[in-house]
Amino acid sequence: MQGMNLENKKSSFLPFRLAALAVLLSGLGVTAVRAQDDNNSLPHLVVQDGRHALIVDGAPFLILGAQCHNSSGWPAMLPKVWPAIDFLHANTLEIPVYWEQFEPEPDQFDPSVVDTVIQQAREHNVRLVLLWFGTWKNGSSHYLPLWMKSEPDKYPRILGRTGHRVDSPSPHAPATLAADIHAFSALMRHLKAADPQHTVILVQVENEPGSWNTIRDYSPEAQKLFNEPVPVELLKAMGTNAPAVDGNWSEVFGPNADEYFHAWSVARYIGQVAAAGKAEYPLPMYVNAALRDPMTPGPAGTYESGGATDNVLWIWKVAAPAIDVLAPDIYQNDSARYRKVLELYSRPDNALLVPETGSSPEQARMCFAALGRGTIGWSPFGLDYTKYANEPLGAPRVTEDSLAPVALDYKILGPIMREVARLNFEGKLQAVAEEKNEVTQTLDFGNWQAVVSYGVSRNGSPKGNAESIGRALIAKTGENEFLVTGAFCRVDFKPVPGGQRDFLRVEEGGYENGTWHSFYIWNGDETDWGLDFSSAPQVLRVSLGTY
Ligand code: DGJ
Repeated sequence: MQGMNLENKKSSFLPFRLAALAVLLSGLGVTAVRAQDDNNSLPHLVVQDGRHALIVDGAPFLILGAQCHNSSGWPAMLPKVWPAIDFLHANTLEIPVYWEQFEPEPDQFDPSVVDTVIQQAREHNVRLVLLWFGTWKNGSSHYLPLWMKSEPDKYPRILGRTGHRVDSPSPHAPATLAADIHAFSALMRHLKAADPQHTVILVQVENEPGSWNTIRDYSPEAQKLFNEPVPVELLKAMGTNAPAVDGNWSEVFGPNADEYFHAWSVARYIGQVAAAGKAEYPLPMYVNAALRDPMTPGPAGTYESGGATDNVLWIWKVAAPAIDVLAPDIYQNDSARYRKVLELYSRPDNALLVPETGSSPEQARMCFAALGRGTIGWSPFGLDYTKYANEPLGAPRVTEDSLAPVALDYKILGPIMREVARLNFEGKLQAVAEEKNEVTQTLDFGNWQAVVSYGVSRNGSPKGNAESIGRALIAKTGENEFLVTGAFCRVDFKPVPGGQRDFLRVEEGGYENGTWHSFYIWNGDETDWGLDFSSAPQVLRVSLGTY
């Protein structure tokens, strides 16, 4: 394939200036709230009262995603990707863009693969999250183009404490940073020209950046910076915890110095790559993180260091303001830990986004736990038919059976995706996932309580499902009116002022262009014991009264 130079003159026309202003404002932490925007506006994030929305085509959008395997972002592999995406009813595919492919020779860019992916996504009516496999991929630099790999002194890896080379790129290498900025800017510039309809809605900058097997870089260049005063911006972010006098990293951070220094260095680097990309085309951008244990983390060095782990989110926010979201890759099987991660990453200054997670039946229900925390997107990893077995993180074989639990989430949520995203942004929605030993969950809606129970039949008492796979979503759409859906659970309501609940009307239906259409009315067995959801995707509009 003939390389193509995408370098072209930067235009100084008004939209570019407005885009630059938007980058500047987002860098200052200023986010305008425009939940309903004009249809052609750029995808962007909004925040209001600590809740977040990803605005796509002028309205809140919920990513019901699937990430393909690492080596599936090639035209030869796409025929094995789309059938899985279609079967899942996913509305978004997360797919890598490989630096080694995009810039096969210095300054020669090949956008053909990206163009093919975009074209096919449109044919499948699916949005894209592009994953820039650039300087970092899982802490290493294996996606650097060959011409960079052949010059390891110019594009170096870091040194461990004892002076040995570690298989992780240096965040202190000006040539690597310049090259990444150059390539990523070319990608964003190309997207701006090639994607006026915003098939690409979000960009991940690098992949699980940081380093394994060392806490930081101990090269002479890194050591010099480590011995210099901690940057003023970081001290400011510490507020009253900042020391009275400036000090170097060890003096200010004591035993955390190595870890914090690496987080700062990696975040600073990636923040510059993202800012340069946004100057070309300001799509929202995020960084995904390999997590530390959210409950019993253990010492630094036992998890990937330098990435956006929960203890250094504050450093990342200061060092990389062009990164909109710090996003956890959640592979925890233990639901208490899964929930803790959701809690740690959903903050007024950080929209919750789960760009990678497992897809087992029990993990599939955690989509609803994430919704309960206001997530803007949820996306299991490795969901394509390329035959790569991602054990133990994923299923031994990806088949329709192994995809079914996630497909159920998306069959339920897909048709109401816009309403769910909007109601969540407005703070009217609650969603829950079943928990072992918690067979009933009660949700407070002011004048009504919603009661979700699991493993219940007719007038029996709840026993929980054999596997914890229940999930429910309830949104208050009027004083006595609710949107209700779920799977493997029963939903009922209790009037808080007292009296007995009366189902005035229970309609199964769906939305079309924001307008509710009723298919038919539930009554008799379907409502006498409560509203029972099985494995069928059903959405109800419920009007309540009392007697
Ligand atoms: C997390 C990474 O971000 C993914 O690219 C992939 O390597 C998975 N781990 C493991 O399959």
